[in-house]
Amino acid sequence: MSKKDIGTSLALYPSLIVVIGAMKEDKPNYLLVGHLGILGHDHYIVSLSKTHYTNELIKENKSLSINLVDEETLEKADYVGCVSGKKIDKSEAFNYEIGELHTPIITEAPVSIECRVEDIYETPGFENFILVPVHTFVADKVLNEKGKIDYQKLKPVLFEFPTYQYLKTGDVIDACMFTKKQTR
Ligand SMILES: Cc1cc2nc3c(=O)[nH]c(=O)nc-3n(C[C@H](O)[C@H](O)[C@H](O)COP(=O)(O)O)c2cc1C
Repeated sequence: MSKKDIGTSLALYPSLIVVIGAMKEDKPNYLLVGHLGILGHDHYIVSLSKTHYTNELIKENKSLSINLVDEETLEKADYVGCVSGKKIDKSEAFNYEIGELHTPIITEAPVSIECRVEDIYETPGFENFILVPVHTFVADKVLNEKGKIDYQKLKPVLFEFPTYQYLKTGDVIDACMFTKKQTR
């Protein structure tokens, strides 16, 4: 093998980080998550350690919000990833409105997705929530004139697990399927 095998290191990074929100009765709790993904065109997956406080709230409500993190919200997002709701009340970390599925929609987040929990797939030490997005709320400042998200304006922060660092989103390289154009 010409490349070095570094073992089972989680190398499928960098990835987005998001703040997951769930309600404990009338108060929200949040945590920061990097282990997340897309399943097909209509499901997401979020992978949470069984030790976290938020899991119980998600299971009680059968819903959660996924809130994208940009550089402006990074400090608050980092905070909710450092302390547990078991010990500290994080309900005032962000401003929020309550969505139809009783999830906290973070005002400061550029994009918030309100999701219903469809299933929970367990792996050792983790509960992996299979989610159906029901609403996607987008701040005006990152929408273009066609009502679509403008990725020149929305700059979500990336996270790299192996060295535990935050990265900036990069510049545009080219339009997707640019090779098709070249072979015409
Ligand atoms: C950058 C970063 C990424 C994280 N990603 C995850 C993750 O993907 N899954 C997870 O279970 N915890 C993750 N955490 C840890 C939780 O956010 C953290 O333990 C949080 O305090 C749990 O809060 P809770 O007990 O109130 O639910 C991450 C933390 C940081 C700082």
